Amino acid sequence: MLDKLERIKGNLQEETKAINTLKGAEQLRTKYLGRKGSINDLMKLIPTLPVEKRAAYGQQINSLKIEITDIIEGLIKKFSSKTIPKNKTEIFDITLPGKRPSIGKSHPLTQTIDDIKEVFARLGFDVAYGPEVESEYYNFEALNIPPDHPSRTDFDTFYIKGDILLRSQTSTVQIRIMEKQEPPIRIIAPGRVYRPDTVDARHSFMFHQVEGLLVDEGVSFADLKGVLNQFIKTYFGQDIKMRFRPSFFPFTEPSAEVDISCSLCRSKGCNVCSYSGWVEILGAGMVDPNVFKAVHYDAEKYTGFAFGMGVERITMLKHGIGDIRLFYENDMRFLSQF
Ligand code: DAH
Repeated sequence: MLDKLERIKGNLQEETKAINTLKGAEQLRTKYLGRKGSINDLMKLIPTLPVEKRAAYGQQINSLKIEITDIIEGLIKKFSSKTIPKNKTEIFDITLPGKRPSIGKSHPLTQTIDDIKEVFARLGFDVAYGPEVESEYYNFEALNIPPDHPSRTDFDTFYIKGDILLRSQTSTVQIRIMEKQEPPIRIIAPGRVYRPDTVDARHSFMFHQVEGLLVDEGVSFADLKGVLNQFIKTYFGQDIKMRFRPSFFPFTEPSAEVDISCSLCRSKGCNVCSYSGWVEILGAGMVDPNVFKAVHYDAEKYTGFAFGMGVERITMLKHGIGDIRLFYENDMRFLSQF
């Protein structure tokens, strides 16, 4: 009997040397201390012994059990500390700061469009939308750009089939709205436009514009100036100045290009304003009577103004962004800054 105890102890000591993982240590525990393990086997022999020997034998088994337990627990402890806990809650440190869920936000261009909508909403402008796939009529003819007019080149675009094209300006929405509604009209129309431009730091084959149109009786150029001044001051800052330069657009007469004092260098001169202190931000003018004719408005009764601005351009000016391509690359290092 005692031999048997010695042998078990010897075996364990041998086996222990080969154990180098937690799993191995646990298997050893099952083998020696488990329900069908060696210690239990020894216990089962007790009733077969003469009564007077049982107590002593029992005590020996018990002390062997304690010894074995010590050895195996020691092994388990040793290897547990080297193992990553399976359950992460075991290492949960409640003193650590919590992880904030990352909530998405609008793209910087969407933010600009929302800001523009907000300013014009306060001035009583509704928001209107039109299709990006258009016909030549809405992109050109109705806007007083006849087929052979040289200014077609300025608004050239991608043709889909026949006279179906991708709009190259949001001015198309002016026509669509005026066809449906009688004056007074007061809308802005944000959306995508397309041009066959080679992509570089300042150009893209697709970009965004916001169109504006106001038509009523007695609308004057002073109203146009007042509305744009209000927009520019609210969007870029009260200290920003505005200036009008005579220009040409087929759908407005007279037409102007509108500059603001450079918001990046505060007119001190930088490469964005080409050291002139001014940057162009939009085109505008009084709606040409020929446009009214296309939508059957009485040009003797009504006057109106229109304007169109590039969303990328004003976003770049406001935040000092040097490359238009950044808007389209989905790079979170850029997007998360807005
Ligand atoms: N559609 C013009 C462009 O894409 C911008 C523009 C200029 C719109 C004058 C207007 C306007 O409504 O009156 O360059």
